[in-house]
Amino acid sequence: MESPFKADILKGKVALITGGGSGIGFELSTQFGKHGASIAIMGRRKQVLDDAVSALRLIGIPAIGFEGDVRKQEDAARVVESTDKHFGSIDILVNAAAGNFLVPAEDLSPNGFRTVMDIDSVGTFTMCHEALKYLKKGGLGKRSSSGGTILNISATLHYTAAWYQIHVSAAKAAVDAITRNLALEWGTDYDIRVNGIAPGPIGDTPGMRKLDPEEINSKARDYMPLFKLGEKWDIAMAALYLVSDAGKFVNGTTMIVDGGLWLSRPRD
Ligand code: HXC
Repeated sequence: MESPFKADILKGKVALITGGGSGIGFELSTQFGKHGASIAIMGRRKQVLDDAVSALRLIGIPAIGFEGDVRKQEDAARVVESTDKHFGSIDILVNAAAGNFLVPAEDLSPNGFRTVMDIDSVGTFTMCHEALKYLKKGGLGKRSSSGGTILNISATLHYTAAWYQIHVSAAKAAVDAITRNLALEWGTDYDIRVNGIAPGPIGDTPGMRKLDPEEINSKARDYMPLFKLGEKWDIAMAALYLVSDAGKFVNGTTMIVDGGLWLSRPRD
């Protein structure tokens, strides 16, 4: 589907996207690139990174991949530094790296719980922490209306409760708290906007393949307000709004992009 945004809204910007080689992250890489940004992707799997970077370059997007695990502070520090060295700045940080699996709480080991907290929550904070000095330059240094900005990919699971996802629910609740607190502190001190997106079920993603067997999927369709799965494109368009000048007065919000699903109830 064609983008409703002008093709140059991110012109001259550099975006570092964790988990940007696959799923929603790759769609963000592609759409940010198509709208003028240079793209650095951080991920753990070399082949996924190489394939993603080749695909982006093939359509003329300046792109580079850096291997790294958001759970390791030294990886985070190295990747933000390498991105700045390669492209000259970091204007946009997207935290899209995440871990997930379905497991009843009774069967989840504390280490399994901690693993997802480490990737989603601590990993998000670590990336923000290490990127700050570069984002500061993107913000106050340029004094433009769209300074450095952060986008955290969250979920809606923790608004209520979610079967077999206690670890992810806890982790994404922490991500939302990180979004709000950094929006307050870094918005005030450095002109850095921090927002999030909470996607609903999005077709053709690792999350859906792992979490949503066909039967759950068809049950949800009965009472979803928009009666369909979202597309990765829907998340990317919301992201473009939030990270571009269009969203210049939006700070500390997590935008729900789920077709209204989390509000819905089965009909009586
Ligand atoms: C129970 C599990 C488990 C499972 C791992 N563990 N998988 N427990 N059921 N299916 C436990 C292990 O037993 C271990 O605890 C601990 O978790 C760490 O496991 P490792 O395999 O050593 O971890 P690691 O190799 O680092 O892998 C991390 C991972 C993996 C999260 C487990 O799945 C991963 O990296 N996934 C990344 C890709 C991914 O999932 N993307 C989808 C994101 S979708 P013990 O106690 O045995 O040592 C998404 C959508 C969210 O985030 C919102 C949905 C609506």
